[in-house]
Amino acid sequence: RKKITTLQLKKMKQQGEKISVLTAYDYTTAKIIDEAGIDVIIVGDSASNTMIGNPTTLSITLDQMIYYTKAVVNGTKRALVIADMPFGTVSGNPLKSLDAAIRMIQETGADAIKIEGGAEIMEDVKKIIDAGIPVMAHLGLMPQSINKYGTYAVRGKEESEAKKLIEDCQLMEELGVFGILLEKIPADLAAQISQQISIPTIGIGAGVGTDGQVLVIQDVMGMNKDFSPKFLRRYADLYTIMTEAAQHYIDDVKTMNFPNKTESY
Ligand code: KIV
Ligand code: NA
Repeated sequence: RKKITTLQLKKMKQQGEKISVLTAYDYTTAKIIDEAGIDVIIVGDSASNTMIGNPTTLSITLDQMIYYTKAVVNGTKRALVIADMPFGTVSGNPLKSLDAAIRMIQETGADAIKIEGGAEIMEDVKKIIDAGIPVMAHLGLMPQSINKYGTYAVRGKEESEAKKLIEDCQLMEELGVFGILLEKIPADLAAQISQQISIPTIGIGAGVGTDGQVLVIQDVMGMNKDFSPKFLRRYADLYTIMTEAAQHYIDDVKTMNFPNKTESY
């Protein structure tokens, strides 16, 4: 079980092998999907929603992201672990951004970080890459900018926005990012970008033309019922499985069916 590297992801793109990515935020889940053979685990700032119950990703802190990332690193042997840099930590002050990136890598053992944004943060990205930290860019829909856009709708539908997106992707490749996450953009645009650049793209709601796919683990496992965007495919119904198991357990406790003799000392 050799560790996946950023170089290997590039080779996978060259060889046309799609890259499988899921999010995780804890040791146990990371261990399960790592042993299942996932290529990359992203510790997303979606932890703000899935783990803490906040309405947006804006309120998760660097300390909290470090806590979740460390747990995932502890559970992972083979997959490449990428940690999200939360809102406000990479925003136009390269030395401050580098400090935050170093903390993330040093305190967690993550392999790489992911940063939302394009040309606006190019100096930050450059500084971090120069320090030897692998960076994945995150473009298209950027949930940390929800208050700027006011909607989680598909991005890059208009020509001007598509043009800026393509330019940002080219810029990020020139700066030396090892990959680009493309969130919720038209499939044709994502496919075009993926063909134009030599680093791998990972899509979420971006069609089949990207070099890999990512989904949020709670969504994939069907742990929630209230989030059903068009791009989501559920691979299990853990909401029902866990509900029934909990109800069964409650029932057994109430009726003294648990514990029985063999389960007692
Ligand atoms: O926070 C997150 O879960 C993400 C995904 C798109 C990977 O950024
Ligand atoms: Na994120």
